[in-house]
Amino acid sequence: RDPESQSILDAHEWLSKLYHHLLRNSKEGQEAYQYLLERGFTEDTITRHQLGYSPSSNDFVVTFLEKKGFHPQTMVKAGLLNTNDQGEYFDRFRGRIMFPLRNHLGKTVAFAGRATGSIEPKYLNSPETDLFQKGRLLYNFDLARASIRKQNTIILFEGYADVISADQAGIQNGIGTMGTSVSDIQAQLIKRYADKVIICYDGDNAGIEAAVKAAKLLRKTGCQTNVARLPNGMDPDDFIKEYGGERFKREVLDASDPYTSFIIRYLRRSFNLQLEGDRITYIENVLQEVAQLDRAIEREHYLNEIAEEFQMSTGTLKEEVEQLRNRMT
Ligand code: GTP
Ligand code: MN
Ligand code: MN
Ligand code: MN
Ligand code: MN
Repeated sequence: RDPESQSILDAHEWLSKLYHHLLRNSKEGQEAYQYLLERGFTEDTITRHQLGYSPSSNDFVVTFLEKKGFHPQTMVKAGLLNTNDQGEYFDRFRGRIMFPLRNHLGKTVAFAGRATGSIEPKYLNSPETDLFQKGRLLYNFDLARASIRKQNTIILFEGYADVISADQAGIQNGIGTMGTSVSDIQAQLIKRYADKVIICYDGDNAGIEAAVKAAKLLRKTGCQTNVARLPNGMDPDDFIKEYGGERFKREVLDASDPYTSFIIRYLRRSFNLQLEGDRITYIENVLQEVAQLDRAIEREHYLNEIAEEFQMSTGTLKEEVEQLRNRMT
């Protein structure tokens, strides 16, 4: 490992400890600490995930890192400090709740800082470095690894709070992307560690659209892909805090839809099935999805559903699907 990367790792280790300490013990951190407790995060959870607080000072971290002997220019590269036009250094994260972003080895390689008020952006992330690439990191993978292996399943969340909330509720095989869409590399990693994935994004339009994209990508890797549904306007953290982990497991995770069911339901929303033209396009779209299923009984299952709903013969639909399948290979 080159000296600069080592120095960046060391600085993150020092700072995650310092931020955590400040959340727990500083006067300024108390408001943030209370906020987390009021959101239902326990003391154990806050410790386990090393949540922290960055003071709303311009030079707190500057001074700290300087005392430890870190090169300020390296710290700018690491995204812990910024510079202004005069070439002066100042703290990048100020007055935020700090989420350490750890790599698969459990080393903190970046931070996400959440605003405590209605300040924009809500989350401020570290910039990318050699050690931190958003598209390669799976948030919480280091803590989730054992549970993922045991269950051969990964639960994929949108937000840090969702991952942590699930973990607190005993659902420990959850990971997150950094609010961005799943990358090819992340999809490959997920497939490497588990044969099954449950996508559990927020119950809003953005969440559904993101789930469609993630589901298509994950399915292509050969991962058995399910998509969970949340009540409108709720995210997994909201649901767990409102109804508890047991109900979340039963009503959200266990009730998640297999990929094809999810896509069919999604397609439905974009067509007006009262119109003949729409109806045909919809059926064609569904058949495209069904054609991609490897198992004949699965194909049969969905074909029967369509046949029944639109009063068509299963034979015709089957023929259509076989034609599509022949063209696929
Ligand atoms: P809470 O409001 O604390 O419950 O967070 P959330 O996770 O529910 O936030 P939201 O659903 O709005 O966003 C989901 C994820 O997207 C977050 O956890 C972040 O990773 C990311 N995200 C949200 N807002 C921002 C932003 O303003 N900037 C960046 N870089 N990422 C964001
Ligand atoms: Mn948002
Ligand atoms: Mn959202
Ligand atoms: Mn959310
Ligand atoms: Mn939330």
